[in-house]
Amino acid sequence: MLRPIVLYPDPRLKLKSKPVTQFGPEFKELAADMTETMRNASGVGLAAIQIGEDIRMMVMDEHYDREDKGESLVMFNPEVLQEEGSETIEEGCLSIPDVREDVERSFKVKVKYQDLEGKEHVSEFEGLLARCVLHEIDHMNGQLFIQKVPAVKRLFLKRQLDELKKNYKEAAHL
Ligand code: NI
Repeated sequence: MLRPIVLYPDPRLKLKSKPVTQFGPEFKELAADMTETMRNASGVGLAAIQIGEDIRMMVMDEHYDREDKGESLVMFNPEVLQEEGSETIEEGCLSIPDVREDVERSFKVKVKYQDLEGKEHVSEFEGLLARCVLHEIDHMNGQLFIQKVPAVKRLFLKRQLDELKKNYKEAAHL
């Protein structure tokens, strides 16, 4: 089921998501909803808080560049064990539509996470996938990519962000 994406500047995007300690069948449906919502919006990754669930859970399409993406990777409580290299690439976020900016992040990450059954895994990701995992972990900590944009460039972003704030107020009838 498609779920509405929480949009900037919704205060929920500033929440620190809670660790998942109990694993049950209800997460299968949530993971399916998140995957459908992410793909419908042409995203590569999505954190649970972006559909309003404040738990440390994310989905990511490892095979985003294939026509048949297969199953998405579902990760709970992801934790970075090691980072290597650095790369600056234009980044966006489904919660901040139409805003794209260069962001510097590690090129390679080693990540520990739990799967839908609570089983622990350690995986390495590179390039866009490393960037995606780091971006979603930021969401779990209430951080958005625009906070990583250097101050000089942030000034340039202000007009776009003001527009999103205005739309948000109108949608919420504030
Ligand atoms: Ni995002």
